Amino acid sequence: MLARKRAGGSCLGSKIIPGATIKDKYSVNGREDSKVANNDSTCTVRVAFHSTSMFEVWFITGVSSGLGFEMALQALQQGFRVIGTVRNKQRAAKEITAIEGAGGTIVVLDITDAEACYRVFAEADKIHGQIDVLVNNAGASYLGALEDFTYVTITIYWGAALTCKRIDSDEEVQAQMDLCFGAPYRLIRAALPSYRRRRTGTIVNISSSAGIDGIAACGLYAASKFALEGFSEALAREVEVYNVKVVIVEPGAFRTNFLGAYIRSKSTTNLVHYPAAQASFDKFDAWSGKQPGDTVKGAAAIVRVASGKGTNGPQVGKAMRLPLGNDCVARLEAKIKSMKDDLDGNRSLSESTNHDDLK
Ligand SMILES: NC(=O)c1ccc[n+]([C@@H]2O[C@H](COP(=O)([O-])OP(=O)(O)OC[C@H]3O[C@@H](n4cnc5c(N)ncnc54)[C@H](OP(=O)(O)O)[C@@H]3O)[C@@H](O)[C@H]2O)c1
Repeated sequence: MLARKRAGGSCLGSKIIPGATIKDKYSVNGREDSKVANNDSTCTVRVAFHSTSMFEVWFITGVSSGLGFEMALQALQQGFRVIGTVRNKQRAAKEITAIEGAGGTIVVLDITDAEACYRVFAEADKIHGQIDVLVNNAGASYLGALEDFTYVTITIYWGAALTCKRIDSDEEVQAQMDLCFGAPYRLIRAALPSYRRRRTGTIVNISSSAGIDGIAACGLYAASKFALEGFSEALAREVEVYNVKVVIVEPGAFRTNFLGAYIRSKSTTNLVHYPAAQASFDKFDAWSGKQPGDTVKGAAAIVRVASGKGTNGPQVGKAMRLPLGNDCVARLEAKIKSMKDDLDGNRSLSESTNHDDLK
């Protein structure tokens, strides 16, 4: 890829090289690819780049708290460039100061704003000339008994007469699916053309243990993370030819703001009929602030795997899933066992449905 730099400036078409001069040659993956066009101090230096972790640019959604914030800091500590998104700069002032202080860049984005996703990603792409690692981290959960999403029964008193009105709406269903599936999909679509052209790139989709195992009260959230996981599997197969890697991260319960930020179904009319859902709420409320997962360690594991660095680094592109936390590992093992049990228990029936003329 050809890139441009004004000597003394810092903007390259594809990468920033801090402090570079027109006489510099940049060794990229052991190759020197620079060509000096002329000796004038304002001349253009053309540099051919190939992907290198040295200048990797990370785009992380939801850096105002939790895993996103820690990933941003740790990626910066690793020497990567980070562009992080927040919804509200005032609310995240402290985190922004920390990220910017460490050399990161903040952009404002509500990932449920479709137009803004493409616009902000395109703007971010220009900041350092490219994005190498897209981390779809931002998310939240809509929790409730599934029968309660979403219809509302309104009682209207009209004179002496009593009228009951039921409003059916998929508003909450759509909001959850958009937040945890639609929005990551949009940002991935924004990233793919450049990844494909450059034949490199990494997509990290933060799923959940709920993306492999649905529990009561979390049905809608689980649906959105299952969607993200199925989509990620197919995506990985499509983009493999372009050397683009997809990593699905499955955190268990981490001590972030996550349990404090869940959105309850507008209707709770039917919760009383679903003791398992109520039990989940009781557990979450008791668990908030006491979750076993250490956010700093969780973020470190993600950065290590997504960057191809560290103990498990070489797994990027090999292992697609990164379960995080003992609780997630236990749930994943139970899920695998229950799937295996179902497969074994039904095998003869499952294999009995082909046309008779097929072997
Ligand atoms: N912590 C856990 O136990 C756990 C478990 C499984 C999966 N996860 C997943 O991990 C990811 C990170 O969550 P976390 O645990 O770090 O929780 P968190 O501390 O609540 O952070 C969530 C982040 O997402 C952002 N966000 C929420 N809605 C957004 C929107 N519409 N547009 C842009 N940003 C938005 C939040 O920004 P604001 O500050 O503006 O709200 C915040 O930065 C999520 O995808 C979550 O589903 C977490």
